Formats: sequence, structure tokens, C-alpha cells
Amino acid sequence: HKVDWDTSEAELGDYDHFMQKEIFEQPTSLKNGMRGRFSDDASTAVFGGLNLSPQELRQVDRILFLACGTAWHSCLVAEYLIERFARIPVEVEYASEFRYRNSPLDKNTLVIAISQSGETIDTLGALREAKRKGYRTLAINNSVGSTIARESDGGIYQHAGPEIGVASTKAFTSQIMICAMLALYLGRLRDLSYGDGIEIVKALQKVPEQVEEILKQDAKIAEIAKKYAKYEDCLFLGRQLMFPIALEGALKLKEISYIHAEGYPAAEMKHGPIALICEECPSVFLAASGEIFQKSLANVQEVKARKGKVIFVASEECDIPEGLADDTIIVPECHEIVQPILMCIPIQLFSYYVALERGCDVDKPRNLAKSVTVE
Ligand code: G6P
Repeated sequence: HKVDWDTSEAELGDYDHFMQKEIFEQPTSLKNGMRGRFSDDASTAVFGGLNLSPQELRQVDRILFLACGTAWHSCLVAEYLIERFARIPVEVEYASEFRYRNSPLDKNTLVIAISQSGETIDTLGALREAKRKGYRTLAINNSVGSTIARESDGGIYQHAGPEIGVASTKAFTSQIMICAMLALYLGRLRDLSYGDGIEIVKALQKVPEQVEEILKQDAKIAEIAKKYAKYEDCLFLGRQLMFPIALEGALKLKEISYIHAEGYPAAEMKHGPIALICEECPSVFLAASGEIFQKSLANVQEVKARKGKVIFVASEECDIPEGLADDTIIVPECHEIVQPILMCIPIQLFSYYVALERGCDVDKPRNLAKSVTVE
């Protein structure tokens, strides 16, 4: 099928690995995902291919997201963002579960599938099942002309460019950028004010340069990663919007370094994962500023009390008490809606460098495929 990529994009150039190249391409891929997608007065997002009028979208009273793998984490970010900014109830399902579950859905449910490749068999199966039941479907997808793009009623292309590394990086941040824009758009059709819209558009437009800033910490993150590459377990903890990023951080690390890693909402730690904590099991805390930050600190103290090492990935405004962090990576202060994108970058670099240190093949991790087209 038709591909809109320039084949030179699929070459390594000055980089050692595609994963590294794709991490560093993010200022550009994010810009490309936004191009032409804000209203002239910069107060909302506009999408050309939804095939749903604002009137029809106002009728939607529930959204169901379907995906697999990293794209499923994008759906979780979408859930937090759409519920927060558009006040529409959102559910997220693994496509593989949904397709055989026969779940009852309200009639005004919009089904959205997220897939980088647009060819994942379970996501396609779930989309087809939703269509058979007569639901409106949309796809957020990175491959123009893919099966999922063709079979959904409408959709949004990510325009992130080809992603060659098996572990998804730029496609993930691109998906959550699109989801933030969708939350803005749906919010503006409901309760989000003009002023709030302007503020969010500004925040989104600033993201590429903020990502650029974070990427400058590459060498520092590589140093930190070296210290932690020897451990066989690792926890990723975060609350609210940082919870899906914690899941994605754990997935990245396990995919390419084969370290056993788990992501949890920080407060759930005491319901089980805390049993793993010891000197040999470090924790990565994702701390965005906001009211929940102080509560996260209590969770960190529980880790420290059990001799667990702590790496903080925190936004600038977080006031981390002296002695709490073994290592800290700071990301620029930003609007809440873009926090997940920014916090993701250090996590990608961390996993990348841990995997290199362990001598792993980062672009072709064992047992994994870029696109899973069998059940
Ligand atoms: C595979 C890939 C993952 C990806 C998942 C879903 O497992 O290794 O990186 O997240 O499929 O792929 P999709 O193309 O549907 O986003």
C-alpha cells in the first residue's frame, strides 16, 4: 500500500541505532504532528479526517480506546486527558481482550483505535468487531494507507515518519501529542473556554523546543544509566498522568535491556510491589509538579527506608527534599497537558543507555516484532 515517507528517512545517518535516531527526531516528529492542525485564532485543534461534524461529536457521551503494547499506554494518557479537559467518560481496553469480550456499549460510544503500524491483528480485529456492532470508529495511526486507517470511519495520521526501532519512541510521543490535541478539540466543543484553549495551544507549540532542551541532557542520562544497568529488577512509579508513563518506562526497559521492570501508580506500591524493594531493585519516580507531588514524596520515603535506590525524573518546580534522590533528571516546567510527553524523553534515553551498557541489540530486541500480524 501507499507510503508517504521519503526512503532516506529510513537510514541511520550519524546515529548508532534507529532507536537513538528516533528519540532525537522527536522535536521534528512532534512538530509534524501539529502542522496545520490549529485553528487560525490558535484556540483549538483542527483535524481534517474525522468525518464527524462538531455536532455529531457533541453527541458522543463515551469514548472507548483500543490498542496493544505502547499504543495502549497512549490510550491511558488519552483517558486522563480527555476526561480532564473534555469531561467525556473514557474507557481503555486491550484490543485482544475487547474483540472476544462482547462488552455492552452505550449507543453514543465512539471507538478509537491507536496503532503505529495500522496492521496489528488484534487491534484490527477489535476495530472490525466494533464496526460490526455499528459503532463509529476512528484511528490514530502513523502509516498512511494502513489496513486500520482504511477500515476506520475516519482518523488522524500521526505524521511521525517511519519508526524502524522495534521499541516505539517517537510514535508514542506523537500519539500522546495527538491525544492532547484531541482532548483540546473535544474540550472546546464542550466546557473548555477560549482562554484555556489559547493557553493549551501555546503549551503544545512549545513542546518541540522543550524536548530539544531535555535531549541536551543525553550525556548526563547516559552516565546515570550506567550506574543502574547492573540490576535485574526495576520499578517505575508515577501518579495520575505519570502512571501511563511509568508503564511505558517499564515496558521500554524490559523490551530492550531484558531487565524485569514493572510500572505502577506510586500509591499502589504498598499493595505488593514494595515487597521487591531492596538495595538491588531501584525505582524510577516520575514526579510532575502539582498537588499530587507531596503525596508521591511519602511513597519515595517508603522506598528509601528499604534501601531502594531512587532516580527522580521530575519537573523543574518539584522541590525534592535533600537526600531523597540518588539521581535526578529535571524536565522543564510546562502545562499539565504536555507533561506526559516531556517526562517520556528521559525514560527513553535511560532505557536506551541501560540496554547499550548491557550489550543488547536495541533495534532488534529478542523475541519482539515491530508489527504483530498474527494472534
Ligand atoms: C508490537 C511492537 C510494539 C507496539 C505494538 C502495537 O508489540 O513491538 O512496539 O507498541 O506492537 O503496535 P501498533 O503498530 O499497533 O502500535
